[in-house]
Amino acid sequence: MEIMASAPGKVILFGEHAVVYGQPAMAFAVNKRAFINLKPGSGEKSIIKSSDLNLAISIDLNEEKKDFKREKKSIINYIIAALYEVHDGSPLDIQLHLEIPVGAGLGSSAAVTVATLAAAYQHHHKKISTPQLAKKAHEVELTVQGRASSLDTAVSTYGGLIYLNEHGEIIPLNFNLPNSMVIGYTSYRGNTAVMVGSVREKRDRFPEIMDPIISSIGRIASQARKLIAEDDMDLNYLGELMNINHGLLDSMGVNTKEISNMIFNARRSGAIGAKITGAGGGGSIIAFCPGKIDEVLRVLQKTDYALQVDLSRTGVKIH
Ligand code: PMV
Repeated sequence: MEIMASAPGKVILFGEHAVVYGQPAMAFAVNKRAFINLKPGSGEKSIIKSSDLNLAISIDLNEEKKDFKREKKSIINYIIAALYEVHDGSPLDIQLHLEIPVGAGLGSSAAVTVATLAAAYQHHHKKISTPQLAKKAHEVELTVQGRASSLDTAVSTYGGLIYLNEHGEIIPLNFNLPNSMVIGYTSYRGNTAVMVGSVREKRDRFPEIMDPIISSIGRIASQARKLIAEDDMDLNYLGELMNINHGLLDSMGVNTKEISNMIFNARRSGAIGAKITGAGGGGSIIAFCPGKIDEVLRVLQKTDYALQVDLSRTGVKIH
């Protein structure tokens, strides 16, 4: 039987990097998804294909497990590592379709991991609860990339807006502001593990300076959570929190000239808040620009890539 599962990408609104040190963070699922089609294979080996990414590989899942640490990080590795968690090794035919642009900081790897796990569990008629699926997906990310907080995989599993508190608990929040978010991204994407490592180095060298910065970022995420719960939320206040969060990320050394240009162009074109989203060192920004979407898209697209994203309440799904 053929199974299709999908999971959404994500945008981190507050708290990247600080979340690695146990601070709270906030992220939302976007209306761009990863789709996995899975069916029993006809050949001796499993086939993994994606016409979006222009790739096709064949692999024997019965052979000794791959050592992901020695290989280049590729989206295919997340699929293989997810299959190792639940699949018996028999040949499969897998197709990956991505609406999420790779390299835009929208968490394509987490979405692919979550969708693959959901499809594989379904294939084996095994039940898995939502919290267990989020946990498994996080373990797969750790296997492939070494370092990762549970934020991306939680958002891809649950959908909607997620607050990860200081105890690592996932708290779904009720919030929606359609037509207000734009992602800008450069063609050069920073490497998450490298960026996390460089922040750690800085923190080791300047603990008394960096620790308060890390806790301030956590406080921004917790203030944002309170703000979002208010009936007549002040949008400018939310934007300002994003701008302060960006300044603190800059002080952690994860900003670049290209990112700065995008941030200031977005703000000049009407964004009331703009910050790095994700690991930085290249990569992506999120601009909060209610009523100014077109202006912000236009200015960002002059030099880089940009797209509008909206929150999606739909987490992982079997179709
Ligand atoms: O670059 P992304 O979208 O994978 O986000 C990384 C976020 C960090 O906080 C820097 C790392 C993490 O695992 O949370």
